[in-house]
Amino acid sequence: MANLLVTGGAGFIGVNFVRYWRRSFPQDAVVVLDALTYAGNAASLDGVTEIHFEKGDIRDYDLVVRLLDERAIDTVVHFAAESHVDRSIRGPDAFIDTNVVGTHVLLKAAKAVWLDRGTGRPHRFHHVSTDEVFGSLASDDPAFSETTRYQPNSPYSASKAASDHLVHAYHHTYGLQVTTSNCSNNYGPYQFPEKLIPLFIINALLGKPLPIYGDGGNVRDWLHVEDHCRGIERILHVGRVGECYNIGGGEELPNLAVIDRICTTLDDIFAVRPDLAKQFPSAPAATGKPSAGLKSYVADRKGHDRRYAIDHAKIQRELGYEPLHDFSRGLHETVQWYLDHEPWWRSVMDGSYRDWLAKNYAF
Ligand code: NAD
Ligand code: DAU
Repeated sequence: MANLLVTGGAGFIGVNFVRYWRRSFPQDAVVVLDALTYAGNAASLDGVTEIHFEKGDIRDYDLVVRLLDERAIDTVVHFAAESHVDRSIRGPDAFIDTNVVGTHVLLKAAKAVWLDRGTGRPHRFHHVSTDEVFGSLASDDPAFSETTRYQPNSPYSASKAASDHLVHAYHHTYGLQVTTSNCSNNYGPYQFPEKLIPLFIINALLGKPLPIYGDGGNVRDWLHVEDHCRGIERILHVGRVGECYNIGGGEELPNLAVIDRICTTLDDIFAVRPDLAKQFPSAPAATGKPSAGLKSYVADRKGHDRRYAIDHAKIQRELGYEPLHDFSRGLHETVQWYLDHEPWWRSVMDGSYRDWLAKNYAF
């Protein structure tokens, strides 16, 4: 039996991970620590039983030490972060505060509780990172491996790279038992509608333009969030301490291909479900028009990385990881999830989100 502290457990991947873990390992105790920023939503954990939810900031050292002690935590799974590249370009400070300083506070607290008291307590600190730390690939470059040189290009990826280095340093210098995963673009249920897939599904339902950055030819490697959770599980259970593992979905696609699939998936579902026309009257699909008509080319993201691709041979070979979700089916299920959860996405896009935006970003 393990006692897990899941930071950022009210965000997209954290919620999916907590749900996955409760389902798969009901004997383990789960504590969620989340500051509930605009991206965190406690209601996303509705129906998940037997977790302890603590609203709080990973930068609060005393709180983290208290949780590690009181809850006898032996495993930290660290998701909490500012995660959206566009926001990091508009306002980098929050990214340094949470991703760099916040990760360091967690490491310091873990060291104090797990190492400095000399108890020899078995423990694990798993750090969830991103493939963006490796920079951008040309079309004919080999995919990122664990030994690819770090070359982060955005304030977001630079802050994640800094946190990766801190995690490594706490292992190398103090002997903290750490593992790190670097994964590609996740998709699936509960993703905040600022990222490409949920944003485009919802805009298409509301009849709003689908803003395609640049020429739409940027390539991402799509990973179903549940495959990501299984990858982390393999690392927690059989991964080697001190190691980094890449987790990918094996589904490299240019943005335009993803966008076209979102549009045709919506069109196909509307064609067989006439009730949706009443629910989403502004959607082109409600009147039999193609959702793709909303596609609109806009200015490119500053410093936009051209291509990400993950070589996940190491985790496959050493830990038996294999992505199980095929992108077409996974996308269809994801579109269906957003159609079925209108109250969820309306609530996360409400006033509290706008207030948070106004406070944290000057635009
Ligand atoms: P998200 O933005 O959906 O959720 C982040 C969560 O962290 C939210 O619940 C938020 O309230 C919480 N949080 C933010 N600042 C906090 C703080 N100071 N203290 C406590 N909680 C705080 O992010 P996500 O997409 O779920 O990503 C989770 C992790 O996975 C991040 O570390 C991200 O860098 C990494 N990652 C994400 C993807 C992806 O495609 N989404 C891909 C690779 C890596
Ligand atoms: O690769 C892993 C990373 O994937 C994670 O570390 C990040 O947390 C996560 O946000 C994601 O980063 P991206 O920048 O790749 O994801 P995003 O959904 O923002 O954009 C995906 C692609 O779609 C990217 O090329 C930019 C483009 N895009 C995005 C938005 C929001 C558009 O063309 N229009 C848009 O409105």
